[in-house]
Amino acid sequence: MTKLNISDVGYGLMGFTWTPHPTPDDQAFAAMKASIDAGITFWNAGSFYNLPDNPYANLKLIARYFTKYPEDAPKIVLSVKTCVNPANLGVELKPEQIREHIDAVLKALDGKVRVGILEPARMDPAIPVEDVIPVIAEYVKAGKIDGIGLSEVGKETLKRANAVHPIAAVELEFSMTARHIIEDGTAQVAAELGIPVIGYSPFSRGVIAGRYKSAKEGADKLALFGFDQFKEDNLNHNWKLYDKVKAVADAKGATPAQVVLAWIKYQSGRNGNPRIVPIPGATTVERVRENFKPVTLTDEEFADLDTFVRNFKVSGDRYNEHSRKFLSV
Ligand SMILES: NC(=O)c1ccc[n+]([C@@H]2O[C@H](COP(=O)([O-])OP(=O)(O)OC[C@H]3O[C@@H](n4cnc5c(N)ncnc54)[C@H](OP(=O)(O)O)[C@@H]3O)[C@@H](O)[C@H]2O)c1
Repeated sequence: MTKLNISDVGYGLMGFTWTPHPTPDDQAFAAMKASIDAGITFWNAGSFYNLPDNPYANLKLIARYFTKYPEDAPKIVLSVKTCVNPANLGVELKPEQIREHIDAVLKALDGKVRVGILEPARMDPAIPVEDVIPVIAEYVKAGKIDGIGLSEVGKETLKRANAVHPIAAVELEFSMTARHIIEDGTAQVAAELGIPVIGYSPFSRGVIAGRYKSAKEGADKLALFGFDQFKEDNLNHNWKLYDKVKAVADAKGATPAQVVLAWIKYQSGRNGNPRIVPIPGATTVERVRENFKPVTLTDEEFADLDTFVRNFKVSGDRYNEHSRKFLSV
């Protein structure tokens, strides 16, 4: 398997296009460029990160970026999630469907950048992972992609998949409001197998980075996703986490986003944890520069914040009833 150069923090590109108001190219390109200037070598994308009227918008944005800056293509390990129908978000994992999705990914990227890691975005409880991985492996063997990843899988699936073909990385939600991978042993299995965890939505979709002025504004803006944790009543309670992060950040002369990322980086590779690579999303050059400025927590700062986080009871599920069916399968 090709050795992939994944930086300690990566960049999530979903927010540019999975929105009714996609970011203009000039703004997106400046932010993407700033991530490379900051030493980021890992970008995270999705073939369905778009509204239905704008298919493959995320991958096409990336292709346009590398058309303008071809010299940047070798600097980036690109991870792409696919095998989801963008119209209804149905998981499509029959062999022919997998091939159609991967071919469409390669077509949308137009040869401008290699796919470093290709991931089925979700598993289907009715389709064993042993039937999925060999189909993706055909593309590795043919030299069309570099590696295979998984997203939102449980520890048994991770073990079984890795027995079929080495898994380059596993993408799992990890944040102050989503610590389940530590509690349910998935992180430990990833560590045992030497598989890095790509920690997605590290800012709890922006809430604990201070993206929104109030719980009401956050609930309104995040309603598009329909997740329980971000309904206004739940967010009113969960806001206390942001208050704590803000207090730590103010005392340290850092920003809430920097403190959140530092809290994750502190745990990476420690105490039996796997390597954890947070992938914050951000659509402006200013936020990208802020987020990728290295900030670390002292042992005391981490202990104070982590004690608060461990004792905090988050209100509401991180997803909703529909999406839960495909989580941690
Ligand atoms: N595997 C999966 O199932 C899965 C699911 C979800 C996401 N992901 C991946 O994870 C990546 C990140 O997750 P995410 O976008 O859901 O959530 P996130 O990274 O937790 O938060 C993104 C939000 O934080 C805001 N933000 C970024 N930097 C900030 C700063 N310095 N100060 C204040 N606000 C800031 C962003 O604002 P702006 O966007 O307005 O700049 C955006 O609203 C995605 O891009 C995607 O690649 C994977």
